[in-house]
Amino acid sequence: MLAIIGGTGLTQLSSLEIVRREVVRTPYGEPSGALTFGALCNTPVVFLARHGYGHTIPPHQVNYRANIWALKEAKASAIVSVASVGGIRDDYVPGALVIPDQIIDYTWGRKSTYFDSVDKPVRHIDFTRPYDEALRQRLLAAAASAGETVFDGGVYATTQGPRLETAAEINRLERDGADLVGMTGMPEAVLARELDVPYAAINVVVNCAAGRSSSEQGIHFDDIEVVLQAAMMRVHNLLEHICKD
Ligand code: HPA
Repeated sequence: MLAIIGGTGLTQLSSLEIVRREVVRTPYGEPSGALTFGALCNTPVVFLARHGYGHTIPPHQVNYRANIWALKEAKASAIVSVASVGGIRDDYVPGALVIPDQIIDYTWGRKSTYFDSVDKPVRHIDFTRPYDEALRQRLLAAAASAGETVFDGGVYATTQGPRLETAAEINRLERDGADLVGMTGMPEAVLARELDVPYAAINVVVNCAAGRSSSEQGIHFDDIEVVLQAAMMRVHNLLEHICKD
């Protein structure tokens, strides 16, 4: 079964034929919301809204451990994360869809491992390639068959939020090698790896990162809304093709 974690702009999957909703508890507390089980083009899918169904949970307060644990318990064989981002690289402009291949983690204070208790002694898992390559290829193939242009690869910087970055911080991220910036990619990706669930992401560029837009206006979430809605139609199309392929 494929799991989809929807971020900002994707609190529900309109084309999902919903079969049931299930409230689950985990040893790590409650996930962001009930798991929604259904079918997308006849393929079983479980959907979870990362920020809650009413978009009430900010990035630094998402219970990532409970979310990934709940999806694993629900027998997810792979997790596709949909997350909106700011574009740092010149050609990652608002509206672009990117399947990232690397991560840099700038978050702090988040519970980012399952291996932190007496009964779960530490394991130093390999994280050289943070996204599952086979799943990334599946997303790229689905995009091709859906006729959606996507960028293959990009370094995703995860910042703590909830505030956006300063222009100087974005310059630093670029010097570090980052192409995209978002607030939720970590620890989600590493927790999936710790539980051995293949994980990959579809990043939706919704704004130029701070200081990168030609207008001097700063970043306004009202403008982002318009871009987000159009891009999410394309994400839906892509997701439907993952299930068909
Ligand atoms: N920065 C961090 N996270 C984001 C951004 C951004 O510019 N846009 C959407 N999520």
